[in-house]
Amino acid sequence: MLDPSDPAFARDPYPYYARLRAQGPAARVALVNGTHAWLVTGYDETRAVLADARFSNVPPQGAGRPKPDSPAQRARACLARHMLNSDAPDHTRLRRLVSAAFTPRRVDALRPRIEKLADGLVTELTARLAQGRGTVDLVDAFAFPLPVLVIGEVLGVPEPDRDSLREWTYRVGSPADALPQGAVDEAWTRLHAYFTGLIEHKRREPGEDLFSALIHDATEGGLDDGELLAMAFLLLFAGYETTMNLLASATLLMLTHPYELAATRRDPARWDAVVEETLRHASPLEGTTWRRATQQVELGAGTVIPAGASVLAVLAAANRDPAHFPDPDAFVPDRYLPAADGTRAAPHAAFGHGPHFCIGSRLARLEAVVALPLLFNSLGTLPGLRLAEEPTSLPYRPGLLVRGPRRLPLTTAPAS
Ligand code: HEM
Repeated sequence: MLDPSDPAFARDPYPYYARLRAQGPAARVALVNGTHAWLVTGYDETRAVLADARFSNVPPQGAGRPKPDSPAQRARACLARHMLNSDAPDHTRLRRLVSAAFTPRRVDALRPRIEKLADGLVTELTARLAQGRGTVDLVDAFAFPLPVLVIGEVLGVPEPDRDSLREWTYRVGSPADALPQGAVDEAWTRLHAYFTGLIEHKRREPGEDLFSALIHDATEGGLDDGELLAMAFLLLFAGYETTMNLLASATLLMLTHPYELAATRRDPARWDAVVEETLRHASPLEGTTWRRATQQVELGAGTVIPAGASVLAVLAAANRDPAHFPDPDAFVPDRYLPAADGTRAAPHAAFGHGPHFCIGSRLARLEAVVALPLLFNSLGTLPGLRLAEEPTSLPYRPGLLVRGPRRLPLTTAPAS
């Protein structure tokens, strides 16, 4: 019986996934909420499922526990009509509309802006730590605000609204059992009202941002009002929750692997490999969104997924498949440096695979390779800098979707 809200599972789900993988590339699992699902844990099989049109992304009517009709359920249903929950040809049409905003040229043009935003955050948090009083939470002061500021600028979300959006998206991405009653419902209702208001505002006063462009395209026949709302929600949610966890996990891994940190300080070209290895070792999206088998599918090794089954491709597990990554539980950035014979490790699956492959992968990588060196160069000036809590007791986000430490307290005060 799998309980995704269990704090011990959230912190370290890997032994469980390794046990499942030992049974076969996919296993049927009973979830604590009374449902069953197939968890795919093998690397090859994960990629095969994600590229196979027999697995649909459209959530079936009445999936999960039955929920009575309410304003919150209607808000949720409306915001859930996004491209990640759709199949071709709808998916192809929706994805085409936003692709133009994420071309390499458009993304790379954001570099100076990302540098400036990261530098501002790093300067401020370093000054706070230098005072030597109390702790500074790296998630609050760096890993959260940077991607939110960046995606907020790309999309055109006003800065004062970003804290509320963080709270609401955190809640809707968590299992309801892990939060006070009504907290998730309230967040869906608020998000729906917020994006409705924002779209009205952008209609009246368009800017240079992506929302304004999408609203303009909508009037040209691109998106209906519901699709526009759902697209706004998806881009915000997908754009920062994941990147926040990449930055937080990379920071934690470097602080707990001082040898790697020293090597990367000596040779900053290694940051690319550090980011790739973090994506593999601490995959920010633990599992993809749910798939549903539209017919019986043979996955190999005698594994047959029946028609109608709910399927979760567990990226965090695929990325630790020993068949592709030797010593998979070790954090070894070197595996993403070209070897003397020109070979390197298999590409990780942290950004997914197939038609839904992450549209923001280039932006996420850019944020990380720009911000992490700035952060560690600045932290390197602080004598006595250390984590203020045992890494093994840090709380992690509950659930099977997003994974990363919820706080990362740093201090320069001597240990008592
Ligand atoms: C480290 C950061 C990130 C990770 C690990 C990540 C991972 C992923 C993964 C695994 C998927 C596929 C999910 C599935 O198949 O169910 C996905 C899709 C998506 N991602 Fe990301 N992502 C990241 C950052 C971003 C950013 C910065 C954006 C920018 C807006 C973004 C936008 C999207 C969108 C819109 C989709 C849906 C694509 C589609 O349905 O065709 N992501 N992401």
